Amino acid sequence: MSKKFSIAKSDEIYARAQKVVPAGSQTFSKGVTQFVEGVAPKYLHRGKGANVWDVDGNQFLDYVMACHPIILGYADDDVNRAVVEQLELGSTFSLMNELEVEVTEKIIETVPCAEAVRFGKNGADATSVGVRIARAVTGREHIAYCGYHGWHDWYIANTDLNSGVPEFNKQLAHSFNYNDLDSLESIFKAHPGEVAIVIMEPLTVLEPKDNFLAEVKKMAHHYGALLMFDEIITGFRFAIGGAQELTGVTPDLTSLAKAVSNGIPLSAICGKKDYLFALEQTFFSFTYGGDCIGLAAANACIPKIQREDVPGHLWKVGEKLKDGFNTLAEEIGVADFFQCVGYPCRTVITFDGQDRYNDLEMKSYIQQELLYDGILWAAYHALSWAHKDEDIERTLKAYERALTGFKKIVDKGLDLRSQIDGIPVRPVFRKVADFNSYTRKGKKV
Ligand SMILES: Cc1ncc(COP(=O)(O)O)c(C=O)c1O
Repeated sequence: MSKKFSIAKSDEIYARAQKVVPAGSQTFSKGVTQFVEGVAPKYLHRGKGANVWDVDGNQFLDYVMACHPIILGYADDDVNRAVVEQLELGSTFSLMNELEVEVTEKIIETVPCAEAVRFGKNGADATSVGVRIARAVTGREHIAYCGYHGWHDWYIANTDLNSGVPEFNKQLAHSFNYNDLDSLESIFKAHPGEVAIVIMEPLTVLEPKDNFLAEVKKMAHHYGALLMFDEIITGFRFAIGGAQELTGVTPDLTSLAKAVSNGIPLSAICGKKDYLFALEQTFFSFTYGGDCIGLAAANACIPKIQREDVPGHLWKVGEKLKDGFNTLAEEIGVADFFQCVGYPCRTVITFDGQDRYNDLEMKSYIQQELLYDGILWAAYHALSWAHKDEDIERTLKAYERALTGFKKIVDKGLDLRSQIDGIPVRPVFRKVADFNSYTRKGKKV
C-alpha cells in the first residue's frame, strides 16, 4: 500500500538554495523541475546498492542511478576500497602516476576502437576533445551530430538554452536524425569538404535500421570525416566494449564516462592511434587530468564489470522489467498510453496521451505513484548490477498499482492534473534532433 512521506528537510535546504544557487541544481536533470515538486525528495543523503536515502530519512529503490554512472550500485565495496586505498596514498600528484597507464591498458583491452586513451573528468571533456582531434586531423571545422553530447558551446548553440554562446557555433554544428542517412548526407552536401566529424550516440531506444551504423561510417569516410561514437551511456552497459562491440561497427574515436568508474568522476577519449596522437599538436591538459581517484575507481570498476558480466545481468533483469511492464500495460488496458521501449539494459517508458492527456502529467502521475511505493524514477531504467530479481518484482507490483490508478482516472473521466499532489514535471530543455525523445504516432515525448 502506498504511503505519503515527509520532505520537510529537503524543502528547508531548497529554500536556502533558491537564494544562492542559480537554477537550483548543479545538474539540470537532478533539479526540482524533473520530479513532482511538493511530492518528490529534493536532496539525497546516501546510497547503497540500488537504494538511496533522502535527507528526511526516506528510502527509495533508485532507477535514475545518478543519471547512469552507478552501474555496480551505490558505494560499491570494491570500488570504495580502491578509492580509499588511493586516498591514503594521495589523490593527485606533482608528476604522473602509473594508474594513468594501467587504466589506459584496461580500456584498450576492452573497447574495440581503443588503441590509445586520454582522460577527462566530465563526459563533455571527452566529446569536446574528440571534436578537437577530428578538427586537427582533417583541418576542417564543421560537426555533424546526433544525440546529446554535453554542455559545451558547439552543442548548446542549437538549443533554446544558448544564452551566452557565440553565434558562430550555430553555423558549425549540424544535427542529423537517427536512422536517416539522407539527413546526414544533406550536411555533407551543404558543407562540401568542411565536415570534420560525425559524432553520435550509437544506440538509444531506437534500433539501427538497414545497417545504419555501418552506413554512417561508410558515408563519414567517403566524405573525409572521422566517426566518433559517444558511448558515455552505452559504454560498459550495452556490452563491456559498448555499442561498438554489440553492433560490430568500430568507430575512429569513442567518448566514455559514467559507468567506467561507477560514479567517481572520470571520462576518456579513446580511438585509433593515428588520430589520438594529434593531441601532441594541440592542448588538452588540466590540473585534475591525471587525478588518481577516478582512475583508481575505474581500475576496480572495469575488472568487476568483466568478472561479474554486469552487462549480461542488466540485459537479464532488464528483459524481465520490460516484458513485465508491457504485459501489465496490456492486461490493465493502458498499452495505448504507456509502453516500455529500448534495449533491455536501458529501457524508457513512453507516454502517449491519445489527445486526452498531457504527457508530462502522465509522467508526473506515474512518478508520484512510484514514489509513494518507495521508488525513485524519471521514466527510464538505469539498471545496475545491484538491481536484483526481487527489486524488479517489487517494481512491477508498483507499476501495477500506478497503471491501475491511471486506468481508473481514464474510466472515471477524472482530471489527471487533479490527481497529482504537487507541481508536475516540467519539460527538459529542447534539443535539436533529440532522438532520445521517442516518437510514437508522430508525437514527441
Ligand atoms: C551520451 C552523452 N554524452 C555526453 C554527456 C555529457 O556528459 P557529462 O554530463 O558528464 O558532461 C552525456 C550526459 O548525460 C550523455 O548522456
